[in-house]
Amino acid sequence: MGPADLEKLIKGIDLYTDERTLLGVGDDAGVYAYGGQVFVHTVDFITPILNDPYLWGAISSANSLSDVYAMGCKPLNALAIVGFNNCDLEIDVLKEVMRGCADKLREARTALLGGHTIDDKEPKFGLAVMGVCEKGRYFTQEGAKPGDLIALTKPVGVGVLTKGIKEGKIRERDIGDAIGYMLMLNEKASELAKAVEASACTDVTGFGLLGHSMNIATKSKVRLAIDFSKVPIYEESVSLIKQKIYPKGALDNYNFVKDKTINEGVEWWQILLLTDPVTSGGLLFTFPEDKEETFKKEAENLGLRVWVIGKVEEGEGLRVYVS
Ligand code: CO
Ligand code: CO
Ligand code: CO
Repeated sequence: MGPADLEKLIKGIDLYTDERTLLGVGDDAGVYAYGGQVFVHTVDFITPILNDPYLWGAISSANSLSDVYAMGCKPLNALAIVGFNNCDLEIDVLKEVMRGCADKLREARTALLGGHTIDDKEPKFGLAVMGVCEKGRYFTQEGAKPGDLIALTKPVGVGVLTKGIKEGKIRERDIGDAIGYMLMLNEKASELAKAVEASACTDVTGFGLLGHSMNIATKSKVRLAIDFSKVPIYEESVSLIKQKIYPKGALDNYNFVKDKTINEGVEWWQILLLTDPVTSGGLLFTFPEDKEETFKKEAENLGLRVWVIGKVEEGEGLRVYVS
């Protein structure tokens, strides 16, 4: 069994659509045209990843907003999705989650219009977000071309770190840069992708770096060659994964990509870091090689750390190697 995926669920089911639907199920967000404007719509919600409710609210919000940025669009408004049980959880805890959400939405200049709460044993929090595509333009996962470079804007290894916290192997305050990166909006990364005229763009979340790379490869009908040594990884997650501490999702994601992945000497723990599910990960995009100078300059102007992790090739699926 691979990871849960809405695209698989709706296969063979006849869905209503209309001529205003520019992009339906299958990309980071749906795209809909109305009144001369083009809008994106997306929803994402997650279970708690940290013990701190404020951080959970803020990170979950950044995670939900991310799909809008992955489309190269601007978020406008949002609805909250809240699952919690008020016998198990104090209302004050949930207020902290909402405070974290409110701060992130203010930073993203996005209005909260409402939401819905439901009684739920396992707490969940997230947002449905609506955004606008300026000049009607947006990114998809289709369009990567052989020769393009592959960019990533945040490190991976978050799933391993949060698993380590749950198992008491590492303390929340010892996970280094990870919290700061998860809190970071992908707004600047999105501006960078636009500046270099990204040919395909997505964000790295639940399917892990390789799962989302595979989505680009499949939709663009190319192969993504990824150099493990160039991929930014949270230092603390390396020692954890060598102790075999990783979430089940990392294996599910591995099973999803393995048949179409050529492995040139990448070890098991390295592969699992590349398939580790990410929360509020960075943007993953491909862009023309002749824009590499612009890429570096623009990233510096934006104050953004970025990594070129490989190159697009002819073929299909993925190739992973260590340089
Ligand atoms: Co996404
Ligand atoms: Co999403
Ligand atoms: Co309601």
